[in-house]
Amino acid sequence: MTYQDVYEGWKADPDKFWMEAAEEVHWYRKPSKALFDDKAPIYEWFSDGLTNTCYNAVDRHVEAGRGDELAIMHESPITHATKGITYRELQTRVASLAGALKMRGVEKGDRVIIYMPMIPEALEAMLACARIGAIHSVVFGGFAAHELAVRIDDCTPKAIIAASSGLEPNRVVHYKPLLDQAIEMAGHKPEFCVIFQREQEVAKLIEGRDFNWHGFQYGVKPADCVPVEGNHPAYILYTSGTTGQPKGVVRATGGHLVALNWTMKNIYNIEPGDRFWAASDVGWVVGHSYICYAPLIKGAQTIVFEGKPVGTPHAGVFWRIIQNHRVKSFFTAPTALRAIKREDPKGEWIKRYRLHDLQALFLAGERADPDTIKWAQQHLNVPVIDHWWQTETGWAIAANPIGIEELPVKIGSPSVAMPGYEIDILDEAGHPVENGELGAIAIRLPLPPGTLQGLWNAEARFRKSYLDTFPGYYETGDAGIKDEDGYFYIMARTDDVINVAGHRLSTGAMEEVLAAHPDVAECAVIGVADELKGQMPLGFLCLNKGCDRDHAEIVSEVVRDVRNEIGPVAAFKLACVVDRLPKTRSGKILRGTMVKIADGQPFKLPATIDDPAILDEIRAALQGLGYAKE
Ligand code: COA
Ligand code: AMP
Repeated sequence: MTYQDVYEGWKADPDKFWMEAAEEVHWYRKPSKALFDDKAPIYEWFSDGLTNTCYNAVDRHVEAGRGDELAIMHESPITHATKGITYRELQTRVASLAGALKMRGVEKGDRVIIYMPMIPEALEAMLACARIGAIHSVVFGGFAAHELAVRIDDCTPKAIIAASSGLEPNRVVHYKPLLDQAIEMAGHKPEFCVIFQREQEVAKLIEGRDFNWHGFQYGVKPADCVPVEGNHPAYILYTSGTTGQPKGVVRATGGHLVALNWTMKNIYNIEPGDRFWAASDVGWVVGHSYICYAPLIKGAQTIVFEGKPVGTPHAGVFWRIIQNHRVKSFFTAPTALRAIKREDPKGEWIKRYRLHDLQALFLAGERADPDTIKWAQQHLNVPVIDHWWQTETGWAIAANPIGIEELPVKIGSPSVAMPGYEIDILDEAGHPVENGELGAIAIRLPLPPGTLQGLWNAEARFRKSYLDTFPGYYETGDAGIKDEDGYFYIMARTDDVINVAGHRLSTGAMEEVLAAHPDVAECAVIGVADELKGQMPLGFLCLNKGCDRDHAEIVSEVVRDVRNEIGPVAAFKLACVVDRLPKTRSGKILRGTMVKIADGQPFKLPATIDDPAILDEIRAALQGLGYAKE
């Protein structure tokens, strides 16, 4: 079968395609059909089936006689820990944690927040929730207490599972004080917290509220898997939108299982027993789909890596892990490769390791720049596959499905639409544009299984953010081009979301923090091009009339505020004071024009600009920061 056969097969009969894919996972009760469209344009998949994610990811492999095979390999070049967990061990550990959660009253449908670093216990916590039908929401460790508090208030968890600390190369991240602060700030209070105490830091527990991970499980009855409906939420994952209020993407159980299982063979060419590594973090969608769920659902081995591409301890750490664990498919973000390439331009570290099990390198999370792809192709000598997706979709919208057929790679393109996705490039009025023309990328409804079922408790926002602009379509928020061979090119976001080191961040959220500074009257944050991180946030501040404080002092205060409010992951370090912001006559800040000036790109003077002279002031301010080079 070629890619074209598979894609056309899906298009000819989507229900048949997905029902066949659904045969590959375990159901306590098989669904009667794939798509449930009675609430269109809101769709559900496999709603009347009964299944369990944890059973599919763990127990069924043990029952199939594969219990002694490795499920998880933990590698921490920071602590020097290497630890393997078999499927049987994983089953015992997850059933025990699930039993303890159940004993404390966590039931199907209850929410549990997980705030943990890259340790196997993070995956165990996710699977334990899935086992009893609880809905987890993992919060990335690089977010500050305020962001955690916002998520606590939005999904109102019954419990929070956290670790005492996370480890960054240059410091210990003290999770527990952040957790305590977040609970203090939040209006909603969880009934209890479970704390995994790491050797590096033993956190002080609050009596009556906090339980030690081990003590909590002592003597409890292990929990069995609870069958849940196909449309039962498996998890909520918050992602950046245009405002400071993150969007709670809801992933439903049935579609998640079916789609992820389908992708492992067809996109990544992974079979049960193969070794797969996604070097991301469980706090992001890549971590949910490809560190935790998909490899385990498929019965493959996954790697949990606590480290960085460089500096832990050197730029060869990725290749050492690929060699030692005989990784077949490896997935990372282009920014990680750029960091390695910068330290090892000639690929000397790569030559020191034997990478003969590696069959392909997958890239996603941001645009893969041609230089980085070529460097990887040259030194790794395997196909370098860019693929495009979003937190909302949970799996690739466009990819080169090497498990079906390796299509020619076109550098700069994540290749072609995956089955389930019919992608159009639209003009502002919602009409498809010609091949080769730039437009908004939209996907015809319904989206396939495994994509978002909605936003947590926010149906109106779901419709407004994704469904209203182009009726009959899902609006991706990305702009791009399709060529005559059906290859897509993802060029930019159409909203105020920026991508910093593969992390999706909201400039709107940063603006809210800047605007709260007592001396700031008005502000704007834009994403400027950065060689390593892809983009970096940069803030413009207009101060209150009469404010005569030192500008450098105010800048350092807002940098501190963003770090404290949003977190270090925002990497907000650049800001300048200007007299005015460029605006249209109707008062809209011309952020796009400022980005073009900062990046030294040509731009058309917007016809509606209020006062073009302001652009010279902006250019001068940017030049002061080393941007806007002529
Ligand atoms: N917990 C706490 N803090 C974290 C964190 C976490 N899980 N992850 C990052 N941070 C902090 C970092 O310590 C850093 O803080 P600092 O300002 O005190 O130095 C800040 O957030 C920015 O981190 P990061 O973006 O990782 O930048 P970096 O300069 O430390 O490293 C790269 C640069 C390119 C090596 C790194 O960004 C990287 O590996 N990126 C790949 C990202 C990725 O895989 N994304 C997957 C999405 S699919
Ligand atoms: P996230 O939801 O964090 O996964 O971020 C999704 C966004 O990252 C997308 O909407 C794109 O803007 C960008 N993105 C992800 N993968 C790619 C890719 N392969 N090429 C270009 N942009 C990408």
